[in-house]
Amino acid sequence: MRGLRYTETEERLKIRIRAHTAYANFTLDDWLSGWLGKPNGCRLLEIGCGDGNFFPTYAQALGKSGLIIAFDINRNLLQEARTSAERLDTPTIVFPWDFDVHPYPLLDKEVDILIAPFSAYYTNDVSRWLEDSLRVVKKGGRLLLLGPARDNAQELYELNEMVTGIKSVPETDETSAKLEEAFLPQLQERLSGAVQATILDRHIIFPSPEEFTRYYFATWLYEKTQERMASPVEFESVLKAAQKTSLKLSKRTVCIEAYKR
Ligand SMILES: C[S@@+](CC[C@H](N)C(=O)[O-])C[C@H]1O[C@@H](n2cnc3c(N)ncnc32)[C@H](O)[C@@H]1O
Repeated sequence: MRGLRYTETEERLKIRIRAHTAYANFTLDDWLSGWLGKPNGCRLLEIGCGDGNFFPTYAQALGKSGLIIAFDINRNLLQEARTSAERLDTPTIVFPWDFDVHPYPLLDKEVDILIAPFSAYYTNDVSRWLEDSLRVVKKGGRLLLLGPARDNAQELYELNEMVTGIKSVPETDETSAKLEEAFLPQLQERLSGAVQATILDRHIIFPSPEEFTRYYFATWLYEKTQERMASPVEFESVLKAAQKTSLKLSKRTVCIEAYKR
C-alpha cells in the first residue's frame, strides 16, 4: 500500500519558487553553484526535478561537455523542464519516472553527481530509494539531498493554527523530519564517515500580507489542513491573520552531503 503521496502542481511550485527567489536572504542557486564548483564534463542526475528550476545552475557548472539527467513523476512539470532544457548548452535528458519504482532505468555507476532538492522525502521507502540512488553513482561520486529541517517554517504553522485551529499535520511533520531522522542515519550506516549534514538558515520576508497568504495556499500544509476541514479555508481569513504577523518565514534547509567510496 502506498503511504504519502504529494501531487505538486505547476502553479503552486511557481508561487513558492518565485517567493524564494525574490524575497529570500540568499538564493539556493548561488549556494548550489558554490557546492558544485566546476565539474566540467561530469554527469549529474536530479531526482524529482520538477519544472527544471535548477537546470541553468547545473548547466553553468557542467559546461557543454557535461550531461544533465533528470526525472520526475509529474508529466506536466516535466514538459516545462524540457522547455527549460532546450535553452541550455549542456545536453539534458528528461524522462518521467516514479522514484518509488526500482530499479531506476539507469545503469550502475552512471553518474558523478546525484542531487535531490526538495524531493527525496516524498518517498515511501527510504531504504530502497537510497540503495537504488547509490547504485547509479560512480565510486568517488557526490550526493546532495536538500529539504526542510525539522523546525522549518514554524511561522507557517502558527498562521495555519491562527486560522484553522490545527496545530500540526502528521503528513507534513513526517516529511519535515525524514531527511534528518531517516535519510541521514541510513546514509551514515551505508557510507560511514563520508556523510555530513548542515543547516542552511534561510528566511523570506514577504513584501505584503497578500504575498504571504498566496504562499500559504501554495503549500502542502494548506492542502493537508483543508482535507481535515468541514468548510473551505477562506483567502480573506488567512489574509487577516497574516496582517498580524511579521511577514517573516524561516526556511531552514537541511543539506546532506555524501561521497561514495
Ligand atoms: C518541491 S518539488 C521540487 C522540484 C525541484 N527539485 C526543485 O527543487 O525545484 C518536489 C518534486 O518531487 C516530485 N516527486 C514527488 N514524488 C515523486 C515520485 N514518487 N517520483 C518522482 N518524483 C516525485 C514532484 O512531482 C515534484 O516535482
